[in-house]
Amino acid sequence: MKLTNRKILIGISGGIAAYKSAYLVRLLVKAGAEVQVVMTEAATKFITPLTFEALTDREVPVEMFPKDRFAGTHHISYSKWPDLIVVSPATADLIAQVSHGFCSSLLATIICATQRKVIWAPSMNEGMFANPTVQKNIETLQAMGHVMADVGVGEMACKSYGAGRMAEPEDIFELIAAEIGRGGPLAGKKVVVTAGACRESIDPVRFISNRSSGKMGYALAREAERLGGEVHLVAGPVSLEDPPGVKVAKIETTEQMAQAVEAEFADADFLVMAAAPADYKPAISFDQKIKKCDKGMKVELVPTVDILMKLSANRKESQVMVGFSLETENEIENSKKKLKAKNLDFIVVNNANEDGAGFDGDTNRVTILSKSGDSLAVDKAPKDEIAARIWEYILPSDSN
Ligand SMILES: Cc1cc2nc3c(=O)[nH]c(=O)nc-3n(C[C@H](O)[C@H](O)[C@H](O)COP(=O)(O)O)c2cc1C
Repeated sequence: MKLTNRKILIGISGGIAAYKSAYLVRLLVKAGAEVQVVMTEAATKFITPLTFEALTDREVPVEMFPKDRFAGTHHISYSKWPDLIVVSPATADLIAQVSHGFCSSLLATIICATQRKVIWAPSMNEGMFANPTVQKNIETLQAMGHVMADVGVGEMACKSYGAGRMAEPEDIFELIAAEIGRGGPLAGKKVVVTAGACRESIDPVRFISNRSSGKMGYALAREAERLGGEVHLVAGPVSLEDPPGVKVAKIETTEQMAQAVEAEFADADFLVMAAAPADYKPAISFDQKIKKCDKGMKVELVPTVDILMKLSANRKESQVMVGFSLETENEIENSKKKLKAKNLDFIVVNNANEDGAGFDGDTNRVTILSKSGDSLAVDKAPKDEIAARIWEYILPSDSN
């Protein structure tokens, strides 16, 4: 996700997890955001302002009344400047201050004065987190429309175990991206994405499948969520974490994938078929395990349902339909035929034999063909970046 020109104020309060926010700031800067860090006095005991000044190229204010005189009201300027405020880590103390309207530090004053959305990443010892007053203060902020990142459960810096660890920087980044995406080009749109390989069983212990890892589909679902879409992901058996904020339906066979997609298709705005359904399935799936036999065995295969073909022939209305095409030769020619035969709006072409492209890896290299005849070649890049380029191309230019 690109956060170019997005202004994010990161507030850092005095918790042991303050060092993790350096990585969060780095992720945001890398995504193109303008980041302004404001620290509490206590936070500077854990990590220096210099670290954040170096990462953001901006001075890090701490004091409400700095020695160097300044003109104007910097607490109000900072409260109006960002698109979003993120407090990471959020101490029990700062949560208490803001939930009760106390403005005893520059950061608390900025948050009390702001009209912007505030995301908090609480971080504290499990006893502090379980404290009823702390919980009540968190609820007060939530009732005011503030967003709380889920705390992690695990070992604390103080060696105790429980709930209260700060969310990981990558998860806070996802929350920020999703929050910014709410006003994004997919806001109010329903997006169905498929991902991963399907399995067709031969007997209870054996199946035929393919090498799809689901990484491309998951990246497309994550990006659609960041762009503000209501995302439904239909996924085969993959070893990937469910993307936050995405509704995930887990299936195994191509028939099950077809049913899950059909159930979501009628009111969908986009269908992106990044999965690798099986083209064939065994004619017979045995109920009991087939015994090993020295003579070998033959498995008769029959075609499975072609999900895109079926939907485009019978059910397509205004849905934008995007197919994926994985070939090992003549990929552009073959994909153009598929685009037409399946009445798709776009087809994303990759060649399984090219270095850094296709199944399983973390990178891809694709060409997107449009039914209008236009195309875009996207050079080798991480799948997240490829996903962002695909959405950029699919979405009408006035919505970007
Ligand atoms: C070593 C150490 C670690 C601390 N870690 C935390 C913490 O993780 N979470 C928390 O809420 N308070 C923590 N505290 C207590 C806060 O630093 C303290 O409440 C402070 O007043 C918070 O100030 P602030 O909210 O203005 O940043 C810690 C204190 C020390 C000495």
